[in-house]
Amino acid sequence: MDLRDVSDDLSQVLYTKSQLDERLAEIAAQIDADYERKDLLLVGVLNGAVMVMADLSRALSIHCEMDWMAISSYGSGTSSSGVVRILKDLNSNLLGRHVLVVEDIVDTGLTLAYLLENLRSRKPASLEVMAMFRKPEAARNDIEVKYVGFDIPNEFVVGYGLDYAGRYRNLSGLGTLAPHVYS
Ligand code: PRP
Repeated sequence: MDLRDVSDDLSQVLYTKSQLDERLAEIAAQIDADYERKDLLLVGVLNGAVMVMADLSRALSIHCEMDWMAISSYGSGTSSSGVVRILKDLNSNLLGRHVLVVEDIVDTGLTLAYLLENLRSRKPASLEVMAMFRKPEAARNDIEVKYVGFDIPNEFVVGYGLDYAGRYRNLSGLGTLAPHVYS
């Protein structure tokens, strides 16, 4: 789905697919250098990270393995509570592995804080995070994200894996959802 297909639903286009690809190529080059000759395991957080995982992994020049976790945040509606339930755990053992968590977005950072604590207890050799988008104004902690695609405003954004009511994940770029869609 192209940004033009849902232009009436968006109040602003933030990034086109080609802008996202350009930034991903830069990040992939950094990851190539940082993990050269290391056994890299990408851990994608379902569902939102599917798009960035697919594009980032293919932009890498080094080998990597991929694994997935599905988690669900307890609490009301759209706000993250930081208490997370694991719906699908990893298939891989993390002991001694170089693990890079791949996220579509870090919003409050509460999900990531829980996830990192959980993954750290499995004793990986290293544990870092790549997030395609981050909302600095929404942050409720100061978790370090080593690779950030773009810092974005604290608005309701959709596309590139991010949904509203299950839709717009397959939108190729990122846009701000117009209030008439959700109000
Ligand atoms: C999104 C995103 C992160 C989390 C970030 O997932 O993929 O995992 O929210 O929010 P936080 O920083 O405020 O904790 P969501 O729970 O919407 O599930 P989804 O990936 O299936 O859309």
